[in-house]
Amino acid sequence: MSKNQTFEPKMIGIICNWCCYGGADLCGVSRFQYPPHIRLIRVMCSSRVDLLHILRAFTNGIDGVFIGGCHLCDCHYVTNGNFNTFSMVQVCRKIMERIGIYPERLKLEWVSAGEGIRFANFMNEYSAEITKLGPLGKAEGMDDKSLAFKLKAVTKLIPYIKLVLSQRLHVPVRTEEAYHRFFTSDEFDRLFEELIADKLEISLITSLLRKKSLSTAEITDSLGLSPSEVSRHMKSSSRQGLVRYDVNSKCYALA
Ligand code: FES
Repeated sequence: MSKNQTFEPKMIGIICNWCCYGGADLCGVSRFQYPPHIRLIRVMCSSRVDLLHILRAFTNGIDGVFIGGCHLCDCHYVTNGNFNTFSMVQVCRKIMERIGIYPERLKLEWVSAGEGIRFANFMNEYSAEITKLGPLGKAEGMDDKSLAFKLKAVTKLIPYIKLVLSQRLHVPVRTEEAYHRFFTSDEFDRLFEELIADKLEISLITSLLRKKSLSTAEITDSLGLSPSEVSRHMKSSSRQGLVRYDVNSKCYALA
């Protein structure tokens, strides 16, 4: 028997009122089946889903989060908000990967009100995928404490990440092609590393140092970073006056 055969995941779907909810409704009316352990939450537009909602769901032990909206360019609001949803999800999935959570746990799909069967098929496939992955944290080889610690560090950075999303990861042309091109480009990877990944790692390190002083080796072990990455972050944090090095104990502490 597979180890996950008896595992029933906790999953939520946050779906927009105008298209995806219509698809879910049609799915129900047409009596297409999908697993009952996926709980749906209706919002007016997929762009109402905040990074905080996703992180809070994972912090509360949800194994999979699905976001459903109208097809790109079909959003019912003049700003075409689902392009923002698309950007936020790309960044969130990259952050999840960086802190050791399978990015597959977060899914984004566009479903129109006429696509009831497609909605059911997608939900069934997604549920099977999460069931196969296993419980959040455990499947990633992370204990509850470490998972909560990492999610908390990302949560603290949300205002900064939103600023980066709006100012530096802004795609000037609102077309599906332009967004796909940008978020699969080397330029996006570079900006993510420079603007978000470094900040996140420093935030994780300073959260650790808030509890006690630590040596480079201890920080490396706790966060799974390489010694050179830790040294680089410590150098820049020392320059900014965030941390100090104690030569006697050979440990870093918050300044
Ligand atoms: Fe459906 Fe905006 S109204 S995604």
